[in-house]
Amino acid sequence: MSRKIIMPGGSGFLGTSLANYLVKLGYEVVILTRQPSSTKNHIRYVHWDGQTLGDWQKEIEGSYAIINFTGKSVNCIYTKKNKENILSSRINSVKILHESIKNCSNPPEVFIQAASLAIYGDTIDECDENGAHGTGFSVEVCEKWEEVFFEFNHEKTRQLCLRIGFALGKEGGALEPLLKLAKLNLGGTIGTGKQYISWIHIDDLNEMFLHAIDNNQYSGVYNATGPNPVTNKSFMETVRKVLGKGWSPNVPTPIVKFGSFFVMKTAPELALTGRKCVPKRFLNNGFSFKYENLEKALHEIIHE
Ligand SMILES: NC(=O)c1ccc[n+]([C@@H]2O[C@H](COP(=O)([O-])OP(=O)(O)OC[C@H]3O[C@@H](n4cnc5c(N)ncnc54)[C@H](OP(=O)(O)O)[C@@H]3O)[C@@H](O)[C@H]2O)c1
Repeated sequence: MSRKIIMPGGSGFLGTSLANYLVKLGYEVVILTRQPSSTKNHIRYVHWDGQTLGDWQKEIEGSYAIINFTGKSVNCIYTKKNKENILSSRINSVKILHESIKNCSNPPEVFIQAASLAIYGDTIDECDENGAHGTGFSVEVCEKWEEVFFEFNHEKTRQLCLRIGFALGKEGGALEPLLKLAKLNLGGTIGTGKQYISWIHIDDLNEMFLHAIDNNQYSGVYNATGPNPVTNKSFMETVRKVLGKGWSPNVPTPIVKFGSFFVMKTAPELALTGRKCVPKRFLNNGFSFKYENLEKALHEIIHE
């Protein structure tokens, strides 16, 4: 059996971590990137444009799995152009990957899509995979993304979509700006502080991908997040505690809106909204987490 795993968009925060993990386990990893083709640290980078068929298709033939991470970062100001790119980069990559699978005589066993818990919107109600969808731009993107992913069912390729939470890792991701602010004694509660953060340590997320690849019974939609979401107030308190920082003033909603737009150059809703999600299907399948406790997870990321 081929041990080759193809990761479109795998050059970013989540993909790099998973690629290094899979290489250590002995898998052959190929990342599809808009950059020129190259090889680094036992990972092969193959050029594609994320929207049209090309030479990269050869990599799909006979591979074991595809895990698609492609998408313009949502960490930007939501101008009309950025919104269009956020959506089109996701939809186009899914569509062209479907085409490439259809063209295979020996298709991959599994096609996994990295999706988002943002589909549940801004809510303090607990959401498992059957939770109601929210409203607004991010929700619409998630819905269209998943719709295109499940629009086509491959005969020989299992399909799963992992709705990923707030992934905590050492190099990048959404934690990085929060740590920078907290180190400057600006790590207070954001907005009301009541919005939930459904966090997951990136090591647990990597393990979830591996489970999803290797177990035939996994298919459909899964929440890929930790079992213990916390409020923003509690999250920021824990960040300060782990950094050894004392009390910090709260950052009221109007200041968050101003600071997001003019200083951080990002959409304020990323910090002001949240959701309380649980990984019900992973737990039902017996998945066990290395990091269930936020303090332990942050300690590992910041100090180890
Ligand atoms: N990080 C999280 O906590 C989190 C949580 C929930 C969901 N997700 C989702 O998981 C996926 C991966 O997340 P990530 O944090 O690893 O993202 P990332 O660091 O921004 O990486 C995404 C990759 O997509 C490619 N890309 C960017 N814009 C593109 C475009 N316009 N057209 C084609 N490719 C483009 C880039 O690869 P090249 O430049 O090499 O082509 C980039 O490295 C994203 O779809 C994200 O929305 C992430």
